[in-house]
Amino acid sequence: MGKNIIVSNRLPIRVSKLNNSFEFTTTTGGLATGMKSFHSENNSLWIGWPGIGIDEIDNNVWDTLNTSLKEGGFYPVNLNNSEINDFYFGLPNKCLWPLFHYFIEYSVFSKAHWETYVAINQKFAAAVLENISAGDTVWIHDYQLLLCPKIIKDLRPDVTVGFFLHIPFPSFEIFRTFPEREALLEGVLGADLIGFHTYDYQRHFLSSVKRILRLEVNFNKITLGIREIVVNTFPMGIDYEKFNVAAKVQLTKKNSRKSELKKQIERHKKASKNSKLILSIDRLDYTKGVINRIKAFEMFLKSHPQYLEKVRLIMLTVPSRSNVPEYKQLKRDTDEIVGRVNGEFATVNWTPIWYYYRSMSFEDLIDLYSNADIAMITPIRDGMNLVAKEYVATRINNDGVLILSEMAGASKELFQALVVNPFDINSMSEAIYKALNMPLEEQQQRNISMRKRLSRYTVQRWADDFMSALNTEPQNMDNNPILHIDPSVSNEILKAYKTAKNRLLLLDYDGTLVEFNEKPNLAIPSPQLLKTIEKLIQQPNTDVVIISGRDQLFLDKWFGKMKLTLVAEHGYFIKNEKWTEKLNNNKEWIQNLLPIFNSFTDRTPGTFVEEKQNSLVWHYRKTDPELANNRAVELKTVIKSLAPESISLMDMDKAIEITNSQFNKGTAVSDIISKKNYDFTLCIGDDVTDENMFINLNEEAYTLKVGKKTTAAKYYIKNPVEVKKLLKLLAD
Ligand code: UDP
Ligand code: G6P
Repeated sequence: MGKNIIVSNRLPIRVSKLNNSFEFTTTTGGLATGMKSFHSENNSLWIGWPGIGIDEIDNNVWDTLNTSLKEGGFYPVNLNNSEINDFYFGLPNKCLWPLFHYFIEYSVFSKAHWETYVAINQKFAAAVLENISAGDTVWIHDYQLLLCPKIIKDLRPDVTVGFFLHIPFPSFEIFRTFPEREALLEGVLGADLIGFHTYDYQRHFLSSVKRILRLEVNFNKITLGIREIVVNTFPMGIDYEKFNVAAKVQLTKKNSRKSELKKQIERHKKASKNSKLILSIDRLDYTKGVINRIKAFEMFLKSHPQYLEKVRLIMLTVPSRSNVPEYKQLKRDTDEIVGRVNGEFATVNWTPIWYYYRSMSFEDLIDLYSNADIAMITPIRDGMNLVAKEYVATRINNDGVLILSEMAGASKELFQALVVNPFDINSMSEAIYKALNMPLEEQQQRNISMRKRLSRYTVQRWADDFMSALNTEPQNMDNNPILHIDPSVSNEILKAYKTAKNRLLLLDYDGTLVEFNEKPNLAIPSPQLLKTIEKLIQQPNTDVVIISGRDQLFLDKWFGKMKLTLVAEHGYFIKNEKWTEKLNNNKEWIQNLLPIFNSFTDRTPGTFVEEKQNSLVWHYRKTDPELANNRAVELKTVIKSLAPESISLMDMDKAIEITNSQFNKGTAVSDIISKKNYDFTLCIGDDVTDENMFINLNEEAYTLKVGKKTTAAKYYIKNPVEVKKLLKLLAD
């Protein structure tokens, strides 16, 4: 078993400079807290930035620093101050973070930041490649490293790569505004398994993949050449036992060992009968809804003055990304509103808000959680929010009320909380009132079921689930293990080709020799491909057949002058020297069904009908994929109920074709092989019509399916580029 390599922008520890030395502090944020326990319990190496510019570290401490990092299982990606400025304070935090959290007006794209993003992703990937050994698994995290999976996969296709996004994935309408959207999606698709906190984020991601990259998505699987990428939801949990046990320890601590914070909280509690504490903890980030929360508290104090001098809001805001202008502004706004509310309501003995702008030790956090009657966690938008889960986990007596925003990923699991809309100040203020007056029994009822869930689906379970899904080989759709073509298979084909006396090459056109194009007329053969085919034709005893669904006109235009066999409209027309047509008297159905095809086209923008001599095709490659799928099902149902028996319906790649079932590529191939004794056959095709060829050939034939789809072929080949490489190998 190899090691696990965790890759994230930040390491869970941060190096700070001291005089001629350094120290480590812990990193705040859900990713770091969550992955820390996985790291400590597994044989893993964590690669990331240690939170300081290399320019800041004194030369004489480098060796000790690196040794300490190594001992902790960390490998640093060292960035200098200018890289930190252009990367950390560039694309991730000035563009992607706001965009993915729907703060589109804060999201600024700059080409220079994009270039740095690409370069630093390469730097992280290089660090991974440097540390990787056979059998290792790589798990990459979050929006700072979206390009990393592809960079690694391209260089090491043998390595299993997982990716987890800790923040929301926005809806397609938001994501599409990002200028380099294709590159970002392609970057993530380098991973074999992609995880999100909630099903909504997964849904949004798949929708963007379908709409932007136009890839085939089957439930939660994406087909990319011969790769199958799995996308799934894994809601991150917490180290439940750690919080549960720590809360028990803190509650029973002797007075002399209590922290200053704890003593202060106790003084507040004693100051008045019925005094209550409301807690909020977040990084100071505009996504966390700090201002709206204070406004709701202010409204509560105004509308329920009986609680003055009794209820206090403790706000712990942890400094974060303070070089980004929006965070600076948020700090000013928060200071101002806290000052205003305290100024308005404070009395000699009481200030309504205790406001801390710093991070706290684990013990202090536990004191806060376990002494707060209410936790008010109301982000405007949040990937998960672990603070909400941590609060519930510390409530060892099952009391306390969690007020939770419906915009936090955690609300999908913690639905027994008082769930609020963070934009609705009025209802948040009422939620405070409701929480303060909630009977103990109801509090316990709600907390018991939330605690049960948290104790079951812990961060350990989350990581185990992700890892076991990552290490499960994706199933072939038909459970039939089919080999991918690799250099050894190509060489075997070449060897058989060289020694054969009569060779036959059966080549489909679209999706096999050329990539699909939204406009079929633009999917034309490259000069290099034409040259390869010409070379193959000129080799002795070699028959080349291009066997396509295209019409005669198109095939003649590109291959008409070559000495090969052309098969058009899936076997209906065959040309050796001149075109011959299969005998067929029944073409009336085309005219009968054409109006139905046309009406579907009218109702489905972006689709069109292709009318051939012996078939009708409805193309839907360019339309909205979800609408197209619904319409395709509808069209198939209508056709099946109306078409005569002699007509067959074929579900093609982004097209539905109906044709006379008497003739297909299989019957054409049978005709061809019955005329000569071939001792080498290579047949390549990508779609369902090519299956008829594979089935009609004998066992010895080399049958190749382009892309990973259900097939009767023996081998998979990745894409038309690989097909052309193989043909060139034979031609040369
Ligand atoms: N946290 C911390 N020190 C603090 C305040 C918070 O370590 O002073 C931790 C907290 O326990 C939680 C994490 O930071 O595990 C915050 O994660 P969350 O998912 O709530 O928000 P994020 O910061 O990831 O957006
Ligand atoms: C969130 C992100 C993490 C990030 C953390 C702290 O949890 O998902 O990727 O590390 O915030 O932010 P920072 O910018 O300090 O790393």
